[in-house]
Amino acid sequence: MASLLDKHKTLEKNATLLLVGSLLVVSIGGIVEIAPLFYLQNTIEKVEGMRPYTPLELAGRNIYIREGCYLCHSQMIRPFRDEVERYGHYSLAAESMYDHPFQWGSKRTGPDLARVGGRYSNEWHVQHLANPRAVVPESIMPSYAYLEEKEVTVRSIGEDLKANEDVGVPYSDDMLANAEADMRAQADPNADTAALLKRYPNANVGDLDGDPTRLTEMDALVSYLQMLGTLVNFSTYDDATGYR
Ligand code: HEC
Repeated sequence: MASLLDKHKTLEKNATLLLVGSLLVVSIGGIVEIAPLFYLQNTIEKVEGMRPYTPLELAGRNIYIREGCYLCHSQMIRPFRDEVERYGHYSLAAESMYDHPFQWGSKRTGPDLARVGGRYSNEWHVQHLANPRAVVPESIMPSYAYLEEKEVTVRSIGEDLKANEDVGVPYSDDMLANAEADMRAQADPNADTAALLKRYPNANVGDLDGDPTRLTEMDALVSYLQMLGTLVNFSTYDDATGYR
């Protein structure tokens, strides 16, 4: 016993030995954590229903980021009873697998938005974004009325899809080729949306901002808000998780 202590003292008194020893211990720990990642195809569990954003949703997401909505809103429901009861099923890693960058956020001045899709009508969102206090009198959310005035940029959406494809979002050639047309069709009540819906199942089609004649930033943002958290059908997973 004493000799073991003596040996350890030698190690502690010799800076070089101690450094080499520490590095050895740390690298063993590191390898144990890192090595499995090289053998896994994917660290994110696959779920049914996830698809890339439609061009209009992606444009809406860009506006969400530009306007700094994430500074007041999270998109991450934690697996705690109070959160699940208020917001719905806790967020799955796969639900943000096509987010570059993800919008989990770190502050909730307003409510979490991970599952806000379908909770309100399009009209509610338009009214709320234009003048939050018209629908929620005590709201401190800023007004975004100017989004109704601004036409959304369609020209660059193809490149935007391509950039996402470059970082791993599975946009097909068909999706890339039809990006601009799909973007216009989604908010046009007279458009034939069959091909769009085939490419992007469950997309919200039709006029979104109350003005069918123009494709505004409001259309884009509402299309994004209305799809949040709606892609995964949780009835398939309920039994496994035990949550509603
Ligand atoms: C200064 C903080 C702040 C910013 C920035 C902000 N919000 Fe809010 N938001 C709130 C607050 C507070 C509420 C709750 C009161 C209300 O409904 O207006 C809210 C509510 C909401 C709701 C309703 C959520 C629900 O479940 O009832 C939506 C949707 C929403 N915000 C979207 C947005 C979007 C989109 C943006 C960016 C364009 C944004 N917010 C920017 C503070 C903010």
